[in-house]
Amino acid sequence: MFLTPYPHMLHGADYNPEQWMQYPDILRQDIEQMKQANMNCMSVGIFAWSALEPAEGEYRLDWLGEVIDRLYENGIYTVLATPSGAKPLWMSQKYPEIRRVSAQRVRELSGGRHNHCYTSPVYREKVYAINRQLANRFGRHPGVILWHISNELQGECHCPLCQEAFREWLKKRYGTLEALNAAWWTAFWSHTYTDWSQIEPPSPRGETAVHGLTLDWKRFVTHQTCTFFENETAPIRAANPDLPVTTNLMGFYDGIDYRKLAPLVDVVSWDSYPVWHSRPDGDETFNAFWADAFSDYCRSMLGKPFLIMENTPSQTNWQEVCRPKTWGFHRLTAISNLAHGADSIQYFQWRQSRGCAEKFHGAVMTHANRTDTRVFQEVAGVGAMLKKLDALCGAQTPARTAILYDTESHWAVNAAQGPRNAGIGDTDLMLRFYLPFWQAGIPVDIVDSDADFTGYDLLLVPMLYLLRGDVSRRLQEFARRGGTLVMTLHTGLTDEHDLCYMGDTPGEGLAALAGIRYLETDPLYDGMEERIVTVRPPFPLADEYRCERLCERIAAEGAEVLAVYGHDNPCMPDDLPCLTRNAVGRGTVYYLAAYPEQKFLLDFLLRLASRLGIQPALETALPYGVVTAVRVASDGTRFLFAMNWTREKQSVSLPYPLRDYETGRLYQNVMPLSPYGAKILVAANSKA
Ligand code: GLA
Repeated sequence: MFLTPYPHMLHGADYNPEQWMQYPDILRQDIEQMKQANMNCMSVGIFAWSALEPAEGEYRLDWLGEVIDRLYENGIYTVLATPSGAKPLWMSQKYPEIRRVSAQRVRELSGGRHNHCYTSPVYREKVYAINRQLANRFGRHPGVILWHISNELQGECHCPLCQEAFREWLKKRYGTLEALNAAWWTAFWSHTYTDWSQIEPPSPRGETAVHGLTLDWKRFVTHQTCTFFENETAPIRAANPDLPVTTNLMGFYDGIDYRKLAPLVDVVSWDSYPVWHSRPDGDETFNAFWADAFSDYCRSMLGKPFLIMENTPSQTNWQEVCRPKTWGFHRLTAISNLAHGADSIQYFQWRQSRGCAEKFHGAVMTHANRTDTRVFQEVAGVGAMLKKLDALCGAQTPARTAILYDTESHWAVNAAQGPRNAGIGDTDLMLRFYLPFWQAGIPVDIVDSDADFTGYDLLLVPMLYLLRGDVSRRLQEFARRGGTLVMTLHTGLTDEHDLCYMGDTPGEGLAALAGIRYLETDPLYDGMEERIVTVRPPFPLADEYRCERLCERIAAEGAEVLAVYGHDNPCMPDDLPCLTRNAVGRGTVYYLAAYPEQKFLLDFLLRLASRLGIQPALETALPYGVVTAVRVASDGTRFLFAMNWTREKQSVSLPYPLRDYETGRLYQNVMPLSPYGAKILVAANSKA
C-alpha cells in the first residue's frame, strides 16, 4: 500500500522557485543538486500566491508548469501546494474582510501568514478560484503525486462574519435558545441569552466563564476550518478524484481538533521540530519520545502510515536557541520517523532564502551554495537509505494497545477553573502512559473517543474528563468482552456540554464498571507529594512510588484495592485506595486515582502488558536510551528499528540473529550501536 501514486519512500523538501525568478542559474542548479541529494519530490507553491496571481484574476501558471515539467523530466515528483497559507497584499488591501480579527476584536493589518479569515466568502471564493486554476492545469500531470492543502492550518478569527457563522452553527446544534441556555448553564452569573445576537465568541475582554460557550467555540473553529478545507479541495477533487490530498499538521497543536480534519485527507502528514540538543548531557530521549508520540498519534488517525512533510535538515530559526542537528543525528531522526510509521522524510527547506524571516533557517542548500557541506551529505545519505526501503512502504504497526486522548476532553479540562490551575497535566499524563511502551518498543496507537476499540487488548484512558458520544458504552463493552481497561483520576466528570454529572462518578456507569466511587480531589502544589503504597500488587511492583499534582480520593465499591495512599498527614486515614482492580464480564478494569511518577507507570504498565502477552519489538533488556520499534510489511516481513538516543556507544543483546537491512551485515548475539546510531533490521533468516 502506497500513500501516493509514486510507489516509493518520499524524500524531498519545500521548494520556493518563486523566490529565485531573478536567478536562472540557481534554478538550473537546483535540479542537479536535488538529484545529488537523492531527492525524489518537492513541495512547490506553498506561499506562491502573488507569483501565481499577481493581480486580481490574472493567473500566471506557466512558470509553475515549467518547474513541474523540469522536475518530472529529472525524476522528481511534485507535491503541489495550494497557496492559501499567505494571502497576496493586493487582496488584503482590496478586501479587508479577509484579514483576521483577534479575540481582542482587533483586525490585523496586511502581512504575515496563516492569518486569513476562514469564513470570509471573498477569501473562500479567491481560494476556490486559484485552486481550480491549479487543479485544472496540473491535477492530471503525471509529475504531480499529492496535493498539499494550505499550510499548517491554525488559529481563529473573531470577525463579524465568523461570529455570525458561529451563531448559525449554534442554531443548528441547539435549535432553541432555551436548549442552548440549558446546555451552557447560563443562569450562572445571570448570563442567560435572550437573543441569538447576544452570543459572542469567548474573549479576554468579554465572556470566559461560560464553559459550554468556550467548548462550542473551539468545536466551531474546527468545523469552520474543515469547511474552509472542503472549499479548498472541491475543485481539486473535481479535477482528479484519484489524486491524494494532505495538509501538514503541527505536533500536538490543540487549536483545532485534528481528528475531525483527518477524514478529509487521504494522507496524514506533519511537521516535526523537536528542540534537539537542549541538554548538556546529550540525552535526547525526551525529545525523541515526544516526536514519536505525535507520529503514533498521526499514524492512528487513518490507521496507516503518514508523511513527515517537514523537518529541518540542520536547525530552525525560531527556537530559543537554534542548534543544528549534530554529526550523524539526522539519520537517527529519520530512522525514528520511519520506525513510528512515516513513509517519507521531507524538509523545510530545499534552499535558504536570501532575505526575510527565514533566511537563517536551516536548509539542504545553504547560502554557501555548495553540495560538499556536512548537512547536504547527511541528507543525501538519508536519501540513499530511503531508496533501499521500498519494501517498508505501507508497512503497518501491529498495535494491541491504545491510549485514549480526546481533544474535546483536553479542551474542557484545561478550560475548567480548578482543581489545579497551576496545570492539570492531562497531556503530560497521557505522555507518561505512552513512555513505557515507547521505551520498551511496544507498538501503541493513540486514539480518541470516536475510535473503534474492538481490535485492542489493552486500552489506557488517562484523564478522560469529558465523556461524549457513546464512549462510555463502548468502554464498558470493551471490558466486558475481555479487554483490559485502565482508567485514571479525573475521568468521567462532565458530559459533552461540560456539565458535571450528578450522582456517582466517573459518570455514565463507569464508576460501577471500575467498582469505585469518586469522593474528592486533593491537588498538590509543585514539590509536594504523597505515595502509592502497594498492598496487594497484581504482579511484582515496588512497595512504594511517589505521586504528585492531583490525589483523587475514591471509595472501593466492589473493586479490590491494590494500592493505598501513603502520606505524612496524621488526620488522613491510611487505607484510602489509589489503585484498584475490578473484574467485569470477561475483562478487567483498573482504576488509578493517583497522578503517579513515571517509574510507577513503567513498572505497572509493562507488567500488565507482559501478562497480556503483548510483546515488544525485540524481547531483550535494552540499555537506557536505546529504543526499538517494529513495522510489519504486507508480506509479513517484520522490520525492526533500533535507535540510540544517547551520546554513548551502546550494545544490545539479541534474542535471535538479526541482519542489517541496509548493509546486509549479520549480528548473532550482540549488536553495537554507535553514539546517536540507528539501524533498520530484519531477522537473519528473513527473505526480505
Ligand atoms: C513551519 C512552516 C514552514 C516553515 C517552518 C520553519 O513548519 O510550515 O513554512 O516556516 O515552520 O521551521
